Amino acid sequence: MRIDIVSLFPEFVEQCAGFGVTGRARERGLLDLHGWNPRDWAEGNYRKVDDRTFGGGPGMVMLVEPLRRCLAALRQADPLPPRVVYLSPQGRPLDQARVRELAALPRLALLCGRYEGVDERLVQAEVDEEISIGDYVLSGGELAAAVVVDAVARLQEGALNDAGSASQDSFEDGLLDCPHYSHPVEHAYGTVPEVLRSGNHAAIARWRRQQALGRTWQRRPDLLAGRVLSKADQALLDE
Ligand code: ADE
Repeated sequence: MRIDIVSLFPEFVEQCAGFGVTGRARERGLLDLHGWNPRDWAEGNYRKVDDRTFGGGPGMVMLVEPLRRCLAALRQADPLPPRVVYLSPQGRPLDQARVRELAALPRLALLCGRYEGVDERLVQAEVDEEISIGDYVLSGGELAAAVVVDAVARLQEGALNDAGSASQDSFEDGLLDCPHYSHPVEHAYGTVPEVLRSGNHAAIARWRRQQALGRTWQRRPDLLAGRVLSKADQALLDE
């Protein structure tokens, strides 16, 4: 998969994607990351990329032209047409279902705003979708882009060493994950639950499902709202 980052600080996103699973996905050729700086397409001695917002008010807006030229160059660089995503708090909230869809695309372009954001005309003309990573305001889209890169990179076939681990992630089945334990069995902070050491795979799967359901019900009831639980799940939750 190819991802193009359009940002005044593209190196920031590239650095974020240089470690762990994302770094490995890049080394394995599963993820091809390219940074683009709109300042390189700005004109004049100052290479101006922003200006005051019409109508007054604080903050600056990123100009149409440097971004338009930058996106044109990015489209030219590879025949694959990118899905252009603008990271902004006004976007649709990102969830794992959308991450899966994005991860299946051959090419993404992530547009990161700074200041008060991007001139709306550029958004209307060039952007396919606007995504938010949560109801809070970051000082730019770069961290949000790094979140998207990380979440889609780990879903690329071969990115995770343990092939099963993506399918067992939190949210893959719409529930929170169950708790996990490792050595030692006995510790001053507690003991690893007996069932996990029993070797009884059916009992372990049942316990994990029950924990996942219980935690979701307690911590994120919104995830269960409108969902009809199977009889077996309902029984586990009622126990
Ligand atoms: N840019 C600034 N805040 C953001 C957010 N919450 N999500 C995505 N992009 C952003």
